[in-house]
Formats: sequence, structure tokens, C-alpha cells
Amino acid sequence: MTRKKLVGIAGLGMYVPKKVLTNRDLEKMVDTSDEWITTRTGIKERRLVQPGTPSSTLAAKAANKALESANLKPEEIELIIVATITPDMPFPSTSCFVQSKIGAKNAACFDIGAACSGFIYGLVTARHFIDSGMYKNALVIGVEVLTSVTDYTDRNTCVLFGDGAGAAVLGPVTSGGILSHYLGADGDLANLLYLPGGGSCNPASKDTLKNRLHYIKMSGSEVFKSAVRLMTDAATRAVCDANLGCKDISLLIPHQANIRIINSVRQRIGLPEDKVYLNVAKYGNVSAASTIIALCEAVKEKRIKKGDIVVLVAFGAGFTWGSIVLKW
Ligand code: ACO
Repeated sequence: MTRKKLVGIAGLGMYVPKKVLTNRDLEKMVDTSDEWITTRTGIKERRLVQPGTPSSTLAAKAANKALESANLKPEEIELIIVATITPDMPFPSTSCFVQSKIGAKNAACFDIGAACSGFIYGLVTARHFIDSGMYKNALVIGVEVLTSVTDYTDRNTCVLFGDGAGAAVLGPVTSGGILSHYLGADGDLANLLYLPGGGSCNPASKDTLKNRLHYIKMSGSEVFKSAVRLMTDAATRAVCDANLGCKDISLLIPHQANIRIINSVRQRIGLPEDKVYLNVAKYGNVSAASTIIALCEAVKEKRIKKGDIVVLVAFGAGFTWGSIVLKW
């Protein structure tokens, strides 16, 4: 399609809670070991909120930093999109709570539920609103309090997840910006990664509590194989759509779920190690917050310079997947 406007990132911000849960801590909670977690996932530690802290609190902290870096006042923001699978509550949307917390009283607000691909789905959605001329700018936030839905008696999942938030202000740019994107989904595979309890399918009851249905359920190895295949495909398609080749990628920022998934994607795309950003060791899988936190840290560490081609790629429950190519 013909683009009316170039849309790019005007500001970034992130927030992670201070409390750290290490692999050694988890050894005391379930039958696991630092050695197993490190070699099978690459994760060494993850961040945790104080119990009772909602996603909107983390999101607002990240959003305020992004607004400051974009040099915008909260009331200048026209759209807030929050990507999360751990909303404050089923309704109203977490974006409305964020709007209230940061004072963005002129913004339209909604949430996106695309799990770990949610931030990329959010960026693509915001791009179109700005490109169409409907809004001048947008605040896109990826946030999770995954510790609120993690079963700390299940060693298959509890070693993987953490809490955090990242935010990006999107607006018109004079050069570069978002060059292309690709989104996909396959609902036939929904039952490989899901949270069955508490929705209209299994409303909260004594039985849903007893059967631990309010926690993440995952078929790890099936998710692993699909993640490698579909993240490789998504990154390649978006790069082609931007009339580039994978050799043109300056930095790949993949969803940080598992170092082995990331290394397999990297090898299939044919990139050297130094062109892939990693922070999975520090935060584990932060779902919708993963790629935006990684982007924030890559910028802070000066891993990205003007003119670089940056590719974000993610995969998550749904299944959903997506990628976006940015010229910095
Ligand atoms: N400590 C020790 N042993 C463990 C642990 C643990 N924490 N967890 C599992 N094991 C055991 C299993 O019980 C199994 O033992 P068994 O052979 O005796 O049955 C063995 O380790 C191997 O289990 P696998 O599931 O085959 O291990 P795998 O190599 O696949 O690694 C993992 C598991 C880390 C979960 C991996 O499959 C993975 O990362 N999957 C993808 C996760 C992901 O990408 N999620 C993305 C989106 S998340 C979202 O959308 C919310």
C-alpha cells in the first residue's frame, strides 16, 4: 500500500521492578536447578512486582519516561494502546488506567491482546492510525505482571516469566521510521499456550481455583518449535517487504523467551551473534513487554545508531507472531 506519512519512534521509556528472583531462589521453591534453567533457557534472573501492584502502575512509569524523551506533555498524546495479557482487570482496559495515571486526558484508549507479539501488533496498529491522518501521535506500551498468573508449583513454567514495562511514542518522522511489518496468527494452536480460567469459557469458581486454571499452561516443546519457525519467517518476510536482505539488518531484537529459540532464529536468518540483542538472562520472558524493553536497553547501550536497520520480531500465545523493520 502507498504510505501517506513516514511514522517512527519519537521517544522510549522502560520500567522494571527492583525485586529480583534468581535461579537459586527458584531452586528452593520447585525441583529445578540453576544449571537446568541456564542451559535450557538462558535465564539467570527475573524481576517481580510487590504483590498487588497492577500492570498500569508499571506501564505509567514507562510511559512517563517515553513522553519525557519525546519531549511531549501527557495531554498532547492522542492515542494510548496497551499490549498485555495481564490487564489490571477484565474491564475497563488497562490503557484507561494508564491514561488516568499519566494525565493523558485527550487520548483515545484501548488494549491489545496478542501475548508476546502484542507490542509489535500495537506498533503496527498505531502506525496505521497516524499514517491515515486520524491521530498525530500514539503511545504504545507493552506491560506484564506475569507473576500474577505464574504457578510457582509448576517447574515447567515458573522459571520462565517476569514483570516489566516498556513504552514508545510514535509520530511522524522526516526520514526512516517504520519501513515494513508482518503479522500472523493461528488460533488452531491456542491450546498449546493459554490461561484457561477466569474468562467466559471457565468463569472463576471453586473448581477453577482447585484445578489451578488461573495460571499459564504451556506445551513447551511444541511452542519452542513453532516459535523458531514462525519468528524466522516473520523477520524474513518483513525484511523482504522493505526491499532489504537479512544481511542488511544492523540489529535483530527478538522476543526474549529462550536463548535457544533466539540462537536458532539467528542461525536460520544467517546473522552473526553481535547483530542480535539479548537480555533474556536478566528478565526472562516478559511477554508483551519483552521486545520494547530490549529496544530501550539497546538504545541506552548505544547498540543502535542513526541509519541502522533494526528488526523487532516476536511470537506468543494465540499463536500470534509479528515483525517490524525500523530505520533508525
Ligand atoms: N527444572 C528442571 N527440569 C525441568 C524444568 C525445570 N524448571 N522444567 C521442565 N523440566 C524437565 C521436564 O519435566 C522434562 O523432564 P522429563 O523428560 O523427565 O519429562 C525435561 O525437563 C525436558 O522438558 P522439555 O519440555 O522437553 O524441555 P525443553 O527443552 O523444551 O525446554 C522450555 C522447556 C524451556 C519451556 C522450552 O520448551 C521453551 O522455552 N519453550 C518456549 C517458551 C516460549 O517461547 N514461550 C513464548 C511465548 S510465552 C507467552 O506467549 C505468554
